[in-house]
Amino acid sequence: MAEQQKLPNHIAIILDGNGRWAKRRGMPRSYGHIVGTDVLEKMCNTIADMGVRYLTVYAFSTENWKRAEEEVRTLMNLFRKYLVRIEKSAHKRHMRVRIIGDKAGLPQDIQDRIAVLEDVTRAYDRMDFQIALNYGGRDEIARAVNSLVADARAGKLPEGPVTEEMIAERLDTGGIPDPDLMIRTGGEKRISNFLLWQLAYTEFYFTDVAWPDFDRAELDRAIDYYNHRDRRFGNAK
Ligand code: FPP
Repeated sequence: MAEQQKLPNHIAIILDGNGRWAKRRGMPRSYGHIVGTDVLEKMCNTIADMGVRYLTVYAFSTENWKRAEEEVRTLMNLFRKYLVRIEKSAHKRHMRVRIIGDKAGLPQDIQDRIAVLEDVTRAYDRMDFQIALNYGGRDEIARAVNSLVADARAGKLPEGPVTEEMIAERLDTGGIPDPDLMIRTGGEKRISNFLLWQLAYTEFYFTDVAWPDFDRAELDRAIDYYNHRDRRFGNAK
């Protein structure tokens, strides 16, 4: 008898393996990102339709600027198009979309598009979708600490020690519960500076499947894995 699967409240995904997937097919790395974008669109809809409340994906790290100019340009162009394309699905699914990461370091037109997308989806509360762009976990923590220091200098902090809550609420994910399940595709077993603070108690599912090959069956395997973990810590329900 099929047992009832418990859905993670928040799934985080490191979208890895696009480049190698393309190379294996004799194609440029950028082709992997193009197919990866289509897969992201499809999986985001699938995950929303399953009823998962929060989804966070790692699309571009603070380190990724070091990649070849052509690859960075392709990725930025994909983000430009995706941030427009996603709006229809966000309205349909009542999905709030936010970008986490250092937005100020992105091209101005992308920042403008982000502002519009975040604004028009602000009131939606069926699902929250976070896309990490120009994101680094250490950078995020440093920015949170700087915001605390600025508040302290302005005399806006309460007396007493800085608490975990005071740090958490200043992270880009402030107000969003920590992930229950983190999936990394593409075979590497690292967290690569992704959600360093937020993944403290998260279950990790690593798969060799490259992101462009990720599908519902692999997602089900990840959720099945999550269901067989003994959730003793964190926000287990
Ligand atoms: C890692 O694969 C992936 C990235 C650096 C980019 C992730 C981006 C996408 C899936 C596409 C677009 C996303 C959005 C939000 C539109 P890799 O190239 O490092 O793969 P490799 O490890 O095989 O080299």
